[in-house]
Amino acid sequence: MHTPATTTLAPTRREFTVPPDRDTIITIDGPAGTGKSTVARELAARIGLDFLDTGAMYRAAAAIVIDFDIDREDIDAIVAKVASADLHFDWAIDPPTILAWDEPIDHRIRDADVTAIVSPIAGIGKLREHMVRKQRIIANQHPRLVSEGRDQGSVVFPDADVKFFLDADPAVRAGRRAEQLRAEGKNPDERKLLADIIDRDHSDSTREDGPLICPDDAVVIDTSDLSCDEVVQRLEDEVRARIEL
Ligand code: DC
Repeated sequence: MHTPATTTLAPTRREFTVPPDRDTIITIDGPAGTGKSTVARELAARIGLDFLDTGAMYRAAAAIVIDFDIDREDIDAIVAKVASADLHFDWAIDPPTILAWDEPIDHRIRDADVTAIVSPIAGIGKLREHMVRKQRIIANQHPRLVSEGRDQGSVVFPDADVKFFLDADPAVRAGRRAEQLRAEGKNPDERKLLADIIDRDHSDSTREDGPLICPDDAVVIDTSDLSCDEVVQRLEDEVRARIEL
């Protein structure tokens, strides 16, 4: 995200944490490139909740499909193998590390081959059912949670205390991704990134199971012209207003 024009927010900020005796689920959904992961993690840290990255779970499933050379048409084999991995997180680390068969798999899940197939893998209905069950188990064990993904407010936690939907102009999202890649020393083709984002939005929002939709009761925030700090501040203000009622 762009650098904030001013940095006057921090000194005026009132400390706010969710009371320790209060279980709270906050969901943050939205398409890729809206800054969801960064702001979800930062929000969780600020207000004293745990952070769940559900995209990491779908990415781990895609990595397993590739690394075990599972036929992408064989849905039962995919679900069985992913279930046997017992995907879960090591919460002693920040951000929590995703584990498969009790071994870290986080080093693998952002590789280009995984990113290339994760959207269709995440479109497999039976796999989504499995992930929804897992995510609810995680929330039972971590009932103070900021959970980020595509279907967290619409499907997984319909009774969440606060639901957010982050959006941004596709060109802005492509620009942010290009900036990240440049920071990694790569030379991205921004037009291709934009085309990929539009394709992925289409495939995530038109699939039958758990499509990317904005829940009716979500607070919608367009992050196109906001810095990361400004988005987190808005989220925090909204949570504070709901929780201090
Ligand atoms: O947020 P991300 O890029 O790490 O997500 C990876 C993929 O997983 C992306 O194609 C969307 C999909 N996803 C999903 O379908 N449902 C979720 N709750 C989280 C991610």
